[in-house]
Amino acid sequence: MCGIVGYIGYRDAWNVLINGLKRLEYRGYDSAGIAIVNNTCSIYKCKGKVTDLERYIAGNNVSGTIGMGHTRWATHGEPNDVNAHPHKSYHGKFILIHNGIIENYAKLKEKLTSSGIKFQSETDSEVLVNFIEYIYEKGNINAENAVRLALSKVIGAYGLVIACTDEPDKLIAARNGSPLVIGVGNKEYFLASDATPIIEYTKSVIYLNDNDVAVISKDGLVLKTLKNDQQIPRIHQLDLDIGEIDKGGYKHFMLKEIFEQPRSILDTFRGRVSTDIKSLHLGGLFNVMDRLIGARRIIIIGCGTSWHAGLVGEYLFEDLARISVEVEYASEFRYRNPIITPDDVVIAISQSGETADTLAAVKLAKKSKALVLGICNVVGSSIPRETDAGVYTHAGPEIGVASTKAFTAQVTVLAMMAMLIGRMKNVLSEKKYKSYIKSLTEIPGKIEKILAYDNEFKKIANLYKLANNFLYLGRGYLFPVALEGALKLKEISYIHAEGYPAAEMKHGPIALIDHKMPVVVLATKDSSYEKIVSNIQEVKARNGIVIALVTEGESTITNMADHVLEIPVTDNIFTPLLAVVPLQLLSYHIAIMRGCNVDQPRNLAKSVTVE
Ligand code: M6R
Repeated sequence: MCGIVGYIGYRDAWNVLINGLKRLEYRGYDSAGIAIVNNTCSIYKCKGKVTDLERYIAGNNVSGTIGMGHTRWATHGEPNDVNAHPHKSYHGKFILIHNGIIENYAKLKEKLTSSGIKFQSETDSEVLVNFIEYIYEKGNINAENAVRLALSKVIGAYGLVIACTDEPDKLIAARNGSPLVIGVGNKEYFLASDATPIIEYTKSVIYLNDNDVAVISKDGLVLKTLKNDQQIPRIHQLDLDIGEIDKGGYKHFMLKEIFEQPRSILDTFRGRVSTDIKSLHLGGLFNVMDRLIGARRIIIIGCGTSWHAGLVGEYLFEDLARISVEVEYASEFRYRNPIITPDDVVIAISQSGETADTLAAVKLAKKSKALVLGICNVVGSSIPRETDAGVYTHAGPEIGVASTKAFTAQVTVLAMMAMLIGRMKNVLSEKKYKSYIKSLTEIPGKIEKILAYDNEFKKIANLYKLANNFLYLGRGYLFPVALEGALKLKEISYIHAEGYPAAEMKHGPIALIDHKMPVVVLATKDSSYEKIVSNIQEVKARNGIVIALVTEGESTITNMADHVLEIPVTDNIFTPLLAVVPLQLLSYHIAIMRGCNVDQPRNLAKSVTVE
């Protein structure tokens, strides 16, 4: 979590930093701060958002060409002015911004306190900056060596930018577990947690690896490991456009991203599906196809929305490829001594590619010699770099904290993988395979149709915006969508919502139903249609309010339900791609009507890079 940004060059650092923080604010927005580095160093920081920081700084002289900025998601210490970054060391020689957690901070703090060092904040980051200065002063060494020595004693995760007022023409960057990208310009360098603040200046970037330490001046960059071994920086070219990270005329990123889904799904299968000969090709899996075909079991790991996509994957792989699947929360998987064998395939799903629990689960799975694959959206992020192979989702940058287009892109990749493996194993007939490919290519057009009904979703949102609870029910492929619908509503509108398999309702949740309870029932025409009709009757018999999502043209449920949301006909396996869209829009409108900040919901951050 937390967004960090740094600049060294010839431009006005303030502008680069403040714009960078705005781009990174989705990573955390409890407090924000900026330091302009020179041999005194001015720090401005306050509780609140980047706009609060701008107001706070207005009127001050912030000129300078070297600096760093931070937007925080609190871990140690409440969000307030003092705990905001940047942090200064006790004699003011070092300034630091930090993303991550220093796990042994308490021990280090005890040691420093017993040496008479006083702390201003409650943060682990201030412990680190004081520790660096302590080593610097004791060891009579340069700033770089002090940083390296201090970090070799640190346990935990960090992405860091550090400056030293004795060497004011340099920035030091270090990474372990928390992402850090360096943008390479002409006599200037940019640092950031991800590439979004960099893209408007340069497309050339260096992704730091764990244990890398970079010392950067206007004239050059020296990359070393924590152990002082020199590294050759690899410069990558970003395939990202500035337009992709703007709101593009929409009021919120979330709305833009919902409406982008026809394009993001198309981009995800574009070049991988041949419409003429109706075949599929996933280049990222080419070298591992034999192991996939021979897999004894697939274990899918992820968190939040990515875990929900994984649940859809379970139905897809079992249905189409006849491989048994387990879907696990990455956070549970990594701590329960899982049994993984070399003929298992582990698939990590993550939009950001940086989620700490998923990344740790990937590292654990790799030790078992299983084939470890990634389905990620952010190119060059940590998970794709750790995995043996994988498939990018090509959804484009997702800035809204609530995941929307990432989910549909993940499901698209999972469907393509299941179809391909099923066909290669010969458990999916050629006829069915081709007809699925055709159906997949029709999905973007069908989502366009759903989006055109946005006003209808808004009307329903208006009726139930004051509800205290919502229940979402689904069966089969739509059970994970029920979970996802409930997550979307609770995370952005703060209404309590639960997703349930429809048939489980009578084993407990039915007790919740009364005339005030909206129940969203995902009831498209599939093999369990008759069963779900009965579930709706059970809700109606208890005076519940039924908002039914049905296949267009359906009449039985339409006559029973209080409200209906229609989606076009498609194959059962693709219904999650359509059914989730009205639920995203319903949540969005309810949250807006309740006055919530949909792009930056309280207490959340986009990339959860802490455990
Ligand atoms: O970047 P990831 O896909 O690994 O993120 C996983 C979850 O943190 C994420 O899906 C989260 O649940 C979203 N806020 C859901 O909208």
